[in-house]
Amino acid sequence: MNKDNKVDVLLGLQWGDEGKGKVVDVLTPNYDVVSRFQGGPNAGHSLEFNNVKHVLHTIPSGIFHPESINIIGNGVVIDPIIFKQEIDQIEALFGEIKNLYISKKAHIITPTHRILDAASEQSKGKTKIGSTLKGIGPTYMDKTGRNGLRVGDILSPIFEEKYQNLKNKHYKMLEMYDFKFDIADFETGFKEGLECVQKFQLIDSEYEINEYIKEGKKILAEGAQGTLLDIDFGSYPYVTSSNTVCAGACIGMGIAPSRLGRVYGIFKAYCTRVGSGPFPTELFDEDGDTIRKTGHEFGATTGRPRRCGWMDLVALKYVVMLNGVTDLIMTKADVLDAFDQIKIATHYKIGEEITDRFPFETDQEIEPVYKTFKGWNTDISQLKQYDDVPENLKEYIRFIEAEVGVPISIVSVGPDREQTILR
Ligand code: GDP
Ligand code: IMO
Ligand code: MG
Repeated sequence: MNKDNKVDVLLGLQWGDEGKGKVVDVLTPNYDVVSRFQGGPNAGHSLEFNNVKHVLHTIPSGIFHPESINIIGNGVVIDPIIFKQEIDQIEALFGEIKNLYISKKAHIITPTHRILDAASEQSKGKTKIGSTLKGIGPTYMDKTGRNGLRVGDILSPIFEEKYQNLKNKHYKMLEMYDFKFDIADFETGFKEGLECVQKFQLIDSEYEINEYIKEGKKILAEGAQGTLLDIDFGSYPYVTSSNTVCAGACIGMGIAPSRLGRVYGIFKAYCTRVGSGPFPTELFDEDGDTIRKTGHEFGATTGRPRRCGWMDLVALKYVVMLNGVTDLIMTKADVLDAFDQIKIATHYKIGEEITDRFPFETDQEIEPVYKTFKGWNTDISQLKQYDDVPENLKEYIRFIEAEVGVPISIVSVGPDREQTILR
C-alpha cells in the first residue's frame, strides 16, 4: 500500500499539437501505466522511432512500449471505426496488442455524431469552429445531455435498441439542419469497429487505476488538445468540448486531486493553431510560411495547414497558472534554427490598455507587444546535451523560465525519440 504515490500529468499548453505524442513515448519507460483522459480522435499524436512515424488518435502514446499498460479513460470519446483502423495499423506492424484496456464509461461516437458535427459546422457558415469533424461536440453533448452510449453498453442485450433510439433522435436533428447525408458506409464500419473494441478488456478503469496507485505503480496521464482549447478556459467558442486542463485528468480517470503529482506542460518554441478562432501572435508573412514549411505544420488528423505565429507569454502564463505546471517541456526549437530574429509576445495591447492577462474576449483587436531575441543560426537537431545548446537559445529559454517561474526540464529538437535533451 503506497499512500504517497502520485499520478503525473502531461498536457498541451497551447492550441494542441505541441508534441505530446512524442514526449509521452519518450517518458513511458519511466512509467508503468499511461492513460488518456479526455478528447477523442480529434487528437493526432505523432511519435517516431527507427525512422518510422506513427500517428495515434485514441490509443495512448505509451502503446509502443509493450511492458507498459495503456488505458483509454472514462473521459475519452471513442469512434469504433477510427479505433479499429488504429488497431489494425499497429497490429500489422507489431502483432497483437496485449497492453490496452478501455474504460466501460468512455462514450461512443456514432456515425450520426459525425454527421451532426458536419451539419452544425455547415450551419454556422463563417463562424464555424473549424472542427475536425470527428463528432466530438455532438458526442459530449449527448454525454452531458444524458443520452450517450458508453463502451460498457456494448455488452448489454439492449445495445442495439439504445443505438437505434439515439440514431432516431439524431435523424430528427438532422432534419432540422436540412442536411443531406448517407450513413450506409459508416454503419458497416461502425459494427466492425464495435467488434474490435470488444476484443479488448473493458474495465472499470477508475478502480483499476486507483489499485495501481495503491500498488505504487507509476502512472502518466496523457492530455489531448491543449489548454487554449479547453471548454471552460480556452478561446470560447473556438474550443473543443472537453476539459483539457490538468483537473480534467481527475474527472477523466477517476482519481482524487490530492493524487496529482508532477504536471508536465508542453509547448512549442512558437505557436500554432488549426481551425478557427483568435490567435493574437499569428503571422501572415514569410516568417509564418517558413515556420509552417520547416516545422511541417500540417494537421496530423485532418492534414489542414496549421496557422503559425510567435511564442505568446501572456497565454503561457495563463495556462501555467490554470494547470499548476511543475515542469515545462519545449518542443520544436529546431524549427527556428535558421531565423536571425525570434520574437516573444510579453503583453497584449488592447485599445489603449497594455495587459499581461488573457482577456475574456479574445476575438477583438489584440496587438501583441514583442520582445526580440537574436536567433542561434545553428543546427540543433543532433544535440544531446544541454551544455551544447547555443547561448542564444539558452537565453531564450532562461527568459521564458524567469517570466513563467517554472523550469524547462526537457528540450525536444526533432520528431524522433532520440532527439530529446533531458536536463
Ligand atoms: P501532439 O498532438 O501534441 O502529439 O503533436 P502532433 O503529433 O500533432 O504534432 C507535432 C508534430 O511535430 C509531429 O509531426 C511530430 O512528429 C513533430 N515533432 C515533435 N517534436 C518535435 C521537435 O522537437 N522538432 C520537430 N522538428 N518536430 C517535432
Ligand atoms: P491534439 O491532441 C489541434 C481543434 C480543431 C478545432 C477545435 C474544435 O493532436 O493536440 P473538435 O474536433 O474538437 O470539435 O475541434 O479544436 N482541435 C485540435 N487542434 N490539435 C488537436 O489535438 C485538436 N483537437 C481539436 O481544429 O479548431
Ligand atoms: Mg496533434
